[in-house]
Amino acid sequence: MKVLLVCMASCLLVVRSGDIINRCVLAKILHQEDVDGFEGYSLPDWLCLAFVESNFNMSKVNENVDGSFDYGIFQINSHYWCNDYQSHSENFCRMNCHELLGPNLLSSIHCAKKIVSTAGGMKNWVEWRLHCSGRPLSHWLTGCHL
Ligand SMILES: *[C@@H]1O[C@H](CO)[C@@H](O)[C@H](O)[C@H]1NC(C)=O
Repeated sequence: MKVLLVCMASCLLVVRSGDIINRCVLAKILHQEDVDGFEGYSLPDWLCLAFVESNFNMSKVNENVDGSFDYGIFQINSHYWCNDYQSHSENFCRMNCHELLGPNLLSSIHCAKKIVSTAGGMKNWVEWRLHCSGRPLSHWLTGCHL
């Protein structure tokens, strides 16, 4: 019985932690996708953004008061950037919001770069402006070998 309980607890843990990407693994993927310096933002800016938006949870979905949803590691909004076929969408990134979920981060990075390229840059993410902008951020890369 004890063994069974331990297994149940650890199995649940495995399923849940699958949503979370390791900080340095994420740093490596972002580096490969050439975000470092893109539109003047550094790799630590991107890591801080992902942390404050999703806690590195690649599967995060959050409903907003206006009925739109935010998807994935960068919490990209369905009203403007992707279409989830639940409410009106401008769909500027020309993608299904569900492409922004799960372990393949390329769609999220591609769409986030598009957002960063618009007026306001990363200030388009309120959490980035509140918690990352103008702060020392180099510690986000501590221990990562890129
Ligand atoms: C990640 O987000 C999903 C969807 O919002 C949620 O169900 C899941 O519990 C989250 N995972 C963790 C480890 O917080």
